Amino acid sequence: MTMERALLSVRDLNVFLQSDDGPLHVVRNVSFDLSRGETLVTVGESGCGKSMTARALMRLLPETGDVPETSRILCLGRDVMRLSEREMQSVRGQEMAMIFQDPSSSLNPTLTVGDQVEESLRLHTPLPKAERRGRALEMLRAVGLSNPELRMNQYPHELSGGMRQRVLIAGALICTPRILLADEPTTALDVTTQADILDLIRDLQRRFDLAVLLITHDLGVAAEAGDRIQVMYAGEIVESAPKRELFRAPAHPYTRALLRSVPRPGEGARLQALAGTPPTLKLSQGGVRCPFAPRCDSGMPICARAAPPEFHVPSAGGGEHRVRCWLRHPQGPEGVEGRNGLS
Ligand SMILES: Nc1ncnc2c1ncn2[C@@H]1O[C@H](COP(=O)(O)OP(=O)(O)OP(=O)(O)O)[C@@H](O)[C@H]1O
Ligand SMILES: [Mg+2]
Repeated sequence: MTMERALLSVRDLNVFLQSDDGPLHVVRNVSFDLSRGETLVTVGESGCGKSMTARALMRLLPETGDVPETSRILCLGRDVMRLSEREMQSVRGQEMAMIFQDPSSSLNPTLTVGDQVEESLRLHTPLPKAERRGRALEMLRAVGLSNPELRMNQYPHELSGGMRQRVLIAGALICTPRILLADEPTTALDVTTQADILDLIRDLQRRFDLAVLLITHDLGVAAEAGDRIQVMYAGEIVESAPKRELFRAPAHPYTRALLRSVPRPGEGARLQALAGTPPTLKLSQGGVRCPFAPRCDSGMPICARAAPPEFHVPSAGGGEHRVRCWLRHPQGPEGVEGRNGLS
């Protein structure tokens, strides 16, 4: 992986959280690059650590969240982990912006649409009010909101879900960030509106030359929107590949199970439908075996004894394809079991 071309480089990101159940290790050694103009999709079932990954990048974790110093986050060449809170505030919005998962809680019901869209400009620029309003109006037009002059003075409850999502996107992009983190931006919407919002994100990506990290639990969305896909399970990226490669030749049994759970193109899939119990993210249970082993239909003895490292998968169409699964050991399943049996 070349770090120079990437707008965002993440290496060995780990996130720990305190819960009522004790300490959790919710993001585990996550590494990826996000390049200019690219859409990288993170897909995985509920609770696997997708949102905590994105929040860690913005340094907006819950209070009990902790990221160890060995984690590296480079945003436009700057080491996010080492920035002061003040410097971080200028990264947020201006270099990297995030659309949060729950749109109803991300909009303030007591502020007008116009005030919310211009908020970042107010915080980060010396622009006078009239100019900020002009920019906000322009942005509402850019996100395809109908009748933007009227909308400026309306409150969130006067808008539909799709319109509210457009307002959030306008607010995220108003300070022209280079990177957009979009956490489940279409989940709360009906299918037609979902497609409109995905089209909009693609359109804005081209117009503003954005790199997008799109988070979804819906493989239909990933198929629609992504250039590359990374599959997350129990806090880890278990497989990553260019989109076509992933759909053509999924290497991880979890990815294959996900693909089987997709009903039909366009309908979207609820990954929660996967059989078996989702994994626990308890701190004590990391690293001692493959986290997917208890649900895996291709498991081998070694899977219960050791966590697999990352292997490269030869890719037909070019582009990097990586997987954490013992089946992809260069010596093959027999080789790895034989070797391990001797030790
Ligand atoms: N505020 C919190 N305090 C303690 N644990 C939390 C908190 N928020 C989330 N978690 C735990 O962290 C883990 C990862 O959560 P995260 O929100 O990143 O999952 P997700 O992949 O985004 O799921 P979803 O698809 O439901 O949004 C979950 O197992 C969850 O139980
Ligand atoms: Mg989430």
